[in-house]
Amino acid sequence: MRKPKIWLYILFLVVVLVLSSSSALFSSITVGATEAPDHITLTWSGDPKTTQTITWRTGAGIVNGQVQFAEAAKVQLFPWQAATAAAGVEPLNTNVGDMGIHSVTLTGLKPGTRYIYRVGGSDGWSQPHYFTTAPATARPFTFLVFGDSQSINYDVWRTTAQQAYRATPEAVFFANVGDLVDVGQDYAHWNGWFAGVKGMIDTIPAMPVTGNHESYTPARVFSMPLFFTAQFKLPQNGPADLAGQVYSFDYGDVHFVMLDSQEGEQAKFVPNMLEQQKIWLEKDLQSTNKKWKIVFLHRPLFNNKEGEGDSHIRKVFAPVFDKYHADVVFTGHDHAYARTYPLHSGIRTYSTVTGTVYVATGRSGTKTYRNLIAKEWHEFFYSPADEPNYLTVEVNGGLLKVKAYKQSGVLIDAWEIHK
Ligand SMILES: [Fe+2]
Repeated sequence: MRKPKIWLYILFLVVVLVLSSSSALFSSITVGATEAPDHITLTWSGDPKTTQTITWRTGAGIVNGQVQFAEAAKVQLFPWQAATAAAGVEPLNTNVGDMGIHSVTLTGLKPGTRYIYRVGGSDGWSQPHYFTTAPATARPFTFLVFGDSQSINYDVWRTTAQQAYRATPEAVFFANVGDLVDVGQDYAHWNGWFAGVKGMIDTIPAMPVTGNHESYTPARVFSMPLFFTAQFKLPQNGPADLAGQVYSFDYGDVHFVMLDSQEGEQAKFVPNMLEQQKIWLEKDLQSTNKKWKIVFLHRPLFNNKEGEGDSHIRKVFAPVFDKYHADVVFTGHDHAYARTYPLHSGIRTYSTVTGTVYVATGRSGTKTYRNLIAKEWHEFFYSPADEPNYLTVEVNGGLLKVKAYKQSGVLIDAWEIHK
């Protein structure tokens, strides 16, 4: 007679446990903004030597946001005697609630200097964080590159990002090659993504490009990547119709160019978007005198999948990369880690003096593909089906060193370019 009661009790406990754990997980992903600042994000929209752009979100209706900042070496009791910069705020209406995106660019900073800062205002302040400006003259530096982080569980992305930063604390910024999230116009995904980079994105800048998934709405129709451009305040020096999505910047002796390959998703909003970028790209690459030219865009020019043909992106951009000699082009989308031989006009050149190395950067989130395959243009090919991966890039004068690691730190590939 007593057994059914015990089983009923156990069943009740199990149901309560499952419901409470799943609701905790759900609420941690879908929760909207509060009065307290979060998603504190560093980017560069100006010169990395003398400026720092800082963005954060709060609930809607919070105004008069500020950043307090000071040179870390000089301050005794922060924020006592800290300087103050007023932030602007833009409303962002999302499927998890209305929020305010606050942003300010600090200017007139000292090169090569570590600063302490906090964000907020009368409604509450964040914890203090630190950032460091770029040195006045080129010195060796390292940055991180993450392949697609789109996930069904952003804890995986968090592990990849945090492991990479722990293993590479000298990194001065990180780049994402697009498809940061699976549904770019569903803010629940951004909650997961930002939770993954807490402690990193508030300390070193993120310099991302968009992928096709940044243009997807929950109803699976195409949109401009509005949540991306709202949150990442990037240089506005690209084509006017693609401001903040297409841009270039310099760090040390490297000229970085960030492009948008989402013709399929965005052409109805921005006609001739690739051609517009090509005209801008020609001028941009013509006018730089930096030793290195590194390009990022989401879709690959040289694919890594069975049955895929030549892309329109290759026809538009490869001749420009050839003409102005881009050293390396980092791409995403295929979730393979692979690098081509140095290529010129699509043909192996046997020399990085004349050829460009195209690198598919793998995946930093959960999504894998089974139809990845090595092609004739690949010098190295690896399918990261077992573990996510990340890349480090070290620039030291005439030496560029790239390493690809599994999430757990196992080396996948290491290669160099000398000039
Ligand atoms: Fe993609």
